[in-house]
Amino acid sequence: MKILFTEDKNNQAAIEAVAKISNKIYTQRGRRPYYHIHTFGCQMNDHDSERMAALFELMGYEKSESEEEASVILLNTCAVREHAQERVYGFLGRIKYLGAQGVILGVCGCMVQQAHVVNKIKGSYPYVDMVFGTHNYAKLPQYLLKALEGEKTIAVLEDTKTIIEGMPALRSSKVSAYVNIMEGCNNFCTYCIVHYTRGREKSRLPGDIIEEIKALIKEGTREVILLGQNVNSYGQGLSEEIDFPDLLERINNLDGLYRLRFMTSHPKDLSEKLIEAMKLEKVCPSFHLPVQSGSTKVLRAMNRKYTREDYLSKVRALKKAIPNIGLTTDIIIGFPGEEEEDVDQTISLIEEVYFDSAFTFIYSKRLGTPAANLNDNLSAQEKHQRFERMLERLNEIVIEKNKARHGEVFEVLVEEESSPGIFQGRTGQGFLVRFPGSSQDLGKLRSVKITKAKKFSLEGELCH
Ligand code: 5AD
Ligand code: SF4
Repeated sequence: MKILFTEDKNNQAAIEAVAKISNKIYTQRGRRPYYHIHTFGCQMNDHDSERMAALFELMGYEKSESEEEASVILLNTCAVREHAQERVYGFLGRIKYLGAQGVILGVCGCMVQQAHVVNKIKGSYPYVDMVFGTHNYAKLPQYLLKALEGEKTIAVLEDTKTIIEGMPALRSSKVSAYVNIMEGCNNFCTYCIVHYTRGREKSRLPGDIIEEIKALIKEGTREVILLGQNVNSYGQGLSEEIDFPDLLERINNLDGLYRLRFMTSHPKDLSEKLIEAMKLEKVCPSFHLPVQSGSTKVLRAMNRKYTREDYLSKVRALKKAIPNIGLTTDIIIGFPGEEEEDVDQTISLIEEVYFDSAFTFIYSKRLGTPAANLNDNLSAQEKHQRFERMLERLNEIVIEKNKARHGEVFEVLVEEESSPGIFQGRTGQGFLVRFPGSSQDLGKLRSVKITKAKKFSLEGELCH
């Protein structure tokens, strides 16, 4: 079920009320209506922050880069690893003094979907004014209004069947924009907290997605990045029969769009039909396919529902269909029960796929997940040693591949001026390239020859 953002009358009234009273209240506190959002985690969170930023702007607030200057500070949090959570607690400790000066403090996002986190905030950080979950952020104006009136909010919905349409977003890039196509996740990977923090899978209606993209194109967007926890299973539960490759085809037909990307994909749902759809004109030759482990034994314990061979055969099919494809992945080291041979297998899989880059993690035990009950027999030192062993080999490959790009010419979509006179954009494969250019290049596809291939970055010059 969907509801329109503008149909929530209480919220619309709160937007107006906040806009009316904020200036006066903050002037008394020696401040201006500035907001500061600090985002942890993935692109889904980045995009949620873009939407909350738009809500602040609707209420007459301006963005502030510094925490000191802000009158509202919002931490949009991630729950995937303990480390990210510890950073949030550290942050909250550090900004306590700002709360005492009348700055409104909020914690939202994935981390607060866990009851023990909410309890900890209540107990140890009682000066936090607003705590709200991943299904509640559209109601930020109401929570802010309450905070301005001196009342605290704790609002965490466990899950929701509704999708809110029509929310504005203040996008960080004009050229390349995130578009959510679904929310939540139905895969129960045993290590993962996400199905608790984001709820069950819900797909947006294709018509709503297309309308959003059309509006973006009108404003100058040239690339869209479709977002979802598992975009490959898009369409399930919709009355209209449509799957992810069908959606790609529809978006591919939109005039004015140059490029189409997506993330994240689950290997078990990577179909032959999707591999065919990768050949569509605007779909970029780039695939993020999290493998997590190269060992079938560990994959089974993770409930990933594919084997090492399944993964490798899908990669072979992708490479055959799109020979210049950029491949990236996620890897977890130190899962309970992992042995040195399993790490060997992960390393050999990295060598066989020959990834362009990877996000690598040490397993972090998440309360409430099935893996939390497994015997975590490895010491922190062992996990680190294994992690370093894997990372060393991965980096050798990533550097070797990057250096081989010297002299190659890529088509780059120019996204922004990164420093005076230096522009940056991505190749279809997703590699970031910097080169001297002009503002006329922004939003355009340009041929760039790589003149300096460093370890992890590329520099080039425009081909004329
Ligand atoms: N520990 C370590 N890494 C994790 N990830 C998800 N859950 C955990 C965990 N408990 C990683 C996976 C996933 C990425 C977003 O985060 O690799 O693909
Ligand atoms: Fe993203 Fe998952 Fe972290 Fe939430 S918990 S921010 S969905 S990575």
